[in-house]
Amino acid sequence: MVAKSTSTAGLRGQIAGETSLCTVGVTGSGLTYCGYDIADLAANASFEEVAYLLQFGELPTQKQLTDYLQAITAHRQLPEALCEILERIPKSAHPMDVMRTGCSALGTLEPENDFAEQDQHIINMLAKFPGIMAYWYHFHFHGTRISTLSEGRSIAEHWLRLLTQKAPSELHIQAMQASLILYAEHEFNASTFAARVAASTLTDIYSSVTAAIGTLRGPLHGGANEAAMALISSFKDADDAEQKLMAMLARKDKIMGFGHAVYRTSDPRNVVIKEWSRKISEQIEDMTLFDISERCEQVMWREKELFPNADFYHASTYHHMGIPTDLFTPIFVMSRVSGWAAHVKEQRANNRIIRPSAGYVGADARDYIPINQR
Ligand code: COA
Repeated sequence: MVAKSTSTAGLRGQIAGETSLCTVGVTGSGLTYCGYDIADLAANASFEEVAYLLQFGELPTQKQLTDYLQAITAHRQLPEALCEILERIPKSAHPMDVMRTGCSALGTLEPENDFAEQDQHIINMLAKFPGIMAYWYHFHFHGTRISTLSEGRSIAEHWLRLLTQKAPSELHIQAMQASLILYAEHEFNASTFAARVAASTLTDIYSSVTAAIGTLRGPLHGGANEAAMALISSFKDADDAEQKLMAMLARKDKIMGFGHAVYRTSDPRNVVIKEWSRKISEQIEDMTLFDISERCEQVMWREKELFPNADFYHASTYHHMGIPTDLFTPIFVMSRVSGWAAHVKEQRANNRIIRPSAGYVGADARDYIPINQR
């Protein structure tokens, strides 16, 4: 039986709980974290300030930020057993599966034994997620066991250093900072809701984040940035993009990186990441992907009134920073763990197990038929 679509399908528009962490499509440019506009934060803050804001509800003082950074830096070393597990995960695995397994394994090696420890485990995940991804990647693709310590002060620089094994440019660090800020938090999106459902059972924080990573993996959610890369790199130039996009729309294909479940006319994160995509493309003097992306944007608006979401220009930005496409969504994880963890804290602070009801659309009541009479 095919379930009938109802107005509540996908819980769209339903208030499923309260949060003081974020508003989407309500005030300012359309996205705020703890009252601060995303445009303001992306232009002025560091990712760690934003992660601190989400974790503790206020921006840090200089001393608090220094201590926070120090705590994160001190937790970068992966346990040996985790490195062994990462080595056992096949090279063919999707990096998001590596992140999901890495997070889960971390929860067995350094478990959250008491909710009173939650803040140190949030710091642990912020510190170790870049190392988990980079260690697995270098072991399988370059045959090296890298150190997950680096001279990178910020998470953005640390991640880029681990990935490229060299000092990144200031432009790349700044672009990564902005990207991590844009991806940090987004109210009751699918993965955050998954984290909150898990948290509402009073499970540990690693289980909640593992559930969230598995949810973010799908192409309708975080995986859209990888799918957007596949799309734009399949076009030769802007004219080719327009022609092929029109054919895709005629076939009613879904165009990845466009549209949003809440925003109706634009995604406030797009204007920020688009600008970084432009800057990075200009720096390498190759505007092809940017021009293709812009043409896609024009065609999608003209034909369907659909706009690029946060993922679309992330594709060209990351690609021109030399980041392999498969690693795009794991970066989202390195950032969004700050939002997920903040929601876990919030859920725990005022918890009731999340257990909605379903509208039944199945068969009417009937008697059991013995197997030999069917
Ligand atoms: N390409 C083509 N058509 C799209 C589309 C896209 N990217 N996004 C939405 N549409 C269409 C829908 O199919 C729907 O058409 P229909 O009424 O004929 O079925 C219509 O536009 C309205 O869809 P809407 O209700 O706005 O979307 P949603 O809330 O069901 O889904 C997304 C939201 C994000 C899942 C959806 O836009 C999508 O799949 N986008 C591509 C994946 C993506 O970029 N995800 C990352 C989100 S940050």
